[in-house]
This record gives sequence, structure tokens and C-alpha cells, in this order.
Amino acid sequence: METIQNLLKIDKKDFPLLENNFKNDNKIIYLDHAATTQKPIQVLKKLEEYYSNFNANVHRGAHQLSAKATEEFENARSLISKYVNANSTKEIIFTRNATEAINLAARSWGEFTLKENDEILLSIMEHHSNIVPWQMVAAKNKCKLKFIGIDQNGRLDIDDFKSKLTTKTKLVSFLHISNTLGCCNPVKEITKLAKQMGSLVLLDACQSLAHQKLDVRDLGIDFLAGSGHKLCGPTGIGFLWSKKEILEEIPPFFGGGEMIQDVFEETSTWAELPHKFEAGTPAIAEAIGLAEGIKYINNIGLDKIKKYENHITQYLFEQLNQIKDIEIIGPTPKIDPNRASLATFYIKGIHSNDIAEILDSKGVCIRSGHHCCQPLHRYIGINSTARVSMNFTTTKEEINIFINKLKETISFLRINS
Ligand SMILES: Cc1ncc(COP(=O)(O)O)c(C=O)c1O
Repeated sequence: METIQNLLKIDKKDFPLLENNFKNDNKIIYLDHAATTQKPIQVLKKLEEYYSNFNANVHRGAHQLSAKATEEFENARSLISKYVNANSTKEIIFTRNATEAINLAARSWGEFTLKENDEILLSIMEHHSNIVPWQMVAAKNKCKLKFIGIDQNGRLDIDDFKSKLTTKTKLVSFLHISNTLGCCNPVKEITKLAKQMGSLVLLDACQSLAHQKLDVRDLGIDFLAGSGHKLCGPTGIGFLWSKKEILEEIPPFFGGGEMIQDVFEETSTWAELPHKFEAGTPAIAEAIGLAEGIKYINNIGLDKIKKYENHITQYLFEQLNQIKDIEIIGPTPKIDPNRASLATFYIKGIHSNDIAEILDSKGVCIRSGHHCCQPLHRYIGINSTARVSMNFTTTKEEINIFINKLKETISFLRINS
């Protein structure tokens, strides 16, 4: 049997939380990586190093501490720029998270550009963070929101997309990989069609950035949103990538220090990119920590990560499918070989919150609820689902323990219902 050590050559001890947390003498099993990843020791050490050795504000002081902090902070930007194959570091805007990145696009680009009766095309599987900002812009600018449905295999319905895409569509905004269905959307195909209608494209890459290679230039998209905490980095840091020519044209999001060139009593002029969009003291430690998380992923290699995750996803599906009455939503690995290493499921007659709570009491952490995808859950007619999500740290042994404990949980709930 493949082990994480021989396939990926990583040491599980790199993740203190996964090694040091016990429930009833057993290590806890963390299967909620889609919500947030655990942090390797390299990230934790880097945060400590920053605060212990070179904590200072960036882009300001002439002193050596500030110079060192600025250098590391800008190196982090440069690493992210390479990670997504941006044209320039000027195209990477640090935000608090992906939600803020999408809000930045919605407010600075959307409110500035969209006109009455313009249409924004989203998919029904979007996370709330790629719905609510567009609802706000649509209400303000009197635009229309349209939603692409899903097909019978739990993938984006391309025919429905084609039927809803018109010359009125000014933005197609969708997720690369669904945090609930797990499907991997055909970004190039969607983008090509959107461009033919003159629409821009925003990609929510929250669930793909840590799992597969991504090249913004090759994909042909216009905006990309990512969250650092899903990339083995700390919370409080994310980024928006967009093309220089778009970012240069649109107004800033927040006003304040750092984002200006000159401030007069009545007006101000803006700083060069990317600083125009980064008002105030940024999340310095977090950006530097995120760079360490990305280096960790790069050291393993995204190709290997993908191969390993495909393998354990296949295994997870095989095991889950042996459980009576289980319904997994989203495409099987056979139908969508690029799907995420997660499975979202429900069992008739049992509430997913009960499953998650009992599993937690047995030391297994999974997620239950709507996973910030209420429109999707309404669309498929289910209130709540359970989600088990893995990453390169997950082993087959952990999957086996999870499956056994899930079976015990279901039996217990059936007897007591
Ligand atoms: C697909 C997707 N989009 C957006 C988000 C929002 O990320 P954040 O809360 O870090 O802004 C998430 C988080 O779970 C997600 O899974």
C-alpha cells in the first residue's frame, strides 16, 4: 500500500496539529482540509522568525528591519505571481482572503464598469463569497444575475451555460473546483465561450490552488481569487490576480495610507500597482507565512500531489460506496478524473450534523451543513450534507478509520432513531 512517505516524501511530523492532538489516546483525524489546511512547522517557524527577528512595517522606514520585512513581503508576492504564472508581480493584490478578493473585483471593477441590464453569469454551485458581492453590485448598478445549473452527474451544465451566455453577459464568475460537489469545471472552455461574447471571467480558485497546477495566462481568465489558509498558509491573507491593464483602469477599493501617491485637502492621486489596492498596513507576517506554505507545496510538487490525491479519492469513493443508503453528491472520480479529493454525502433519515458530531466525539473532524452553498443545496433539494475533505497529508489508514467510525455512527443513529 502506498504511504504518504514513499509517494510524496513528506514527513507527517511537519504538521504539529495533526501529530499532537489526541482523542481517547488516538490521534485526531482531520478531514476538513477544504475548509482550511493545517500548517506545516516551516510556516509556524517563519511567523515566529518574522516577529522575533525582523518585525517592522513595510515600504516605509529607511531602517534595516523595514528593509528586510519589505524584501520578504515582496518576495512573497513574487512567489505567488510565479505560482499562478502572472505576467508581473504588479498583478498580485494582497487581500485578507478570497472573499475580500472577490469583493475587490465586484466593487472596483463591477461598480465601475457594469451598466443597467448588464448580466453577470454565476453557477449555482458557487460559494456564498462568489454570490453575495455580485448581488450587491447587481442591486446597485441595476444588473441581472443568472445562474448556470448542474447536470445529472453533478457537474456544471455546459449546455445551460451556453444558453444563458449572451452579449449582455459582462462577467462569468465561477469556481474552478466546487467545495461541495468536488467537480472540476472546464475553465478554458468556459472562458473561450465567454470571450466570444465579450465577457470577462473571474475564477474562484480557492479549492484548486493547493491541488493542481494553474496558469492564469494559459486559462485566459481576467481575475483569480485565492485564500492563503487553503494553501498551508496562515489565515488573514489572500490575493486577487488580475491583468495590469484592468487594474490600472479601475478605481481603488479602500482609501488610506500606502495606496496614495499624493494627498491634497480635497483630492488624492493613487500609488502605482499593486499598492493602489493595498490601503493601510498589510498582513505582513501572514503574507510571508503564506510564501512558506507555497514553498512547502512546491517542494512536494503539484503533479505528485494531484496523483496522490486522485489515488486516495478513488479509494475514499470505493469505501463510501459500500455503505448502505449513502448518497454522494457530485461526480465520481471516473466521470471527473480532475475532481477534488473530497466527498459530500447524505444518508436518508439521518441529519448530517448528527453524523459530524458523533464522528467528532470519536476523534474524526468532518464538516456538515450547507458548506456556504445554500443555493446549491436548495437546487438539489437537500438542507444539509456531510463533507469529508482530504489533502496530501491524508493517508489510507485515516480513511479506513473514518469509514469504520462512520459505519458505527450510522448504526448508532439508526438504532436510536
Ligand atoms: C470555493 C470557495 N470559494 C470561496 C471561499 C471563501 O474563502 P475565504 O473564506 O477564505 O474567503 C471558500 C472557502 O471555503 C471556498 O471553498
